[in-house]
Amino acid sequence: MSKSAESALAELFAAAKAAQANAYAPYSRFKVGASLRTADGALYSGCNVENAAYPEGVCAEAGAIAAMALAGDRRIAEILVIGDGKALCTPCGGCRQRIREFADGATIVHVAGPEGVRATFRLAALLPESFGPGHLKG
Ligand code: THU
Repeated sequence: MSKSAESALAELFAAAKAAQANAYAPYSRFKVGASLRTADGALYSGCNVENAAYPEGVCAEAGAIAAMALAGDRRIAEILVIGDGKALCTPCGGCRQRIREFADGATIVHVAGPEGVRATFRLAALLPESFGPGHLKG
């Protein structure tokens, strides 16, 4: 990895980790952070926000995507999700579809733990044969 790609990834990781620290997860006790970089180079982050009415909780990725949309950005170049625990904190099925709305199969999805990035996928590997905005265009 080039020096600049390495520092760009370090920046994405640091932003996701900072977001994870603010996660509101009193029920699952599983704090998640997500940060995405747009095609223009802007960074947006989110954390999971749970709710006493359990199904109303929202994932970290949804928060980051909402922040991106609010700023008027519409294109995810790469996204990083961080969670604790031994297992890979890959985006849930719903979040894979949320990412897909603003991405394509080549979009990079990094999965991290507290120590750093554990795995990197293309969205196509996580959501094969996906349905996207293009399908509504006939
Ligand atoms: N969670 C996320 O924020 N993103 C994911 O992709 C996986 C799961 C959250 C939802 C819930 O608050 C907690 O992790 C446990 O499922």
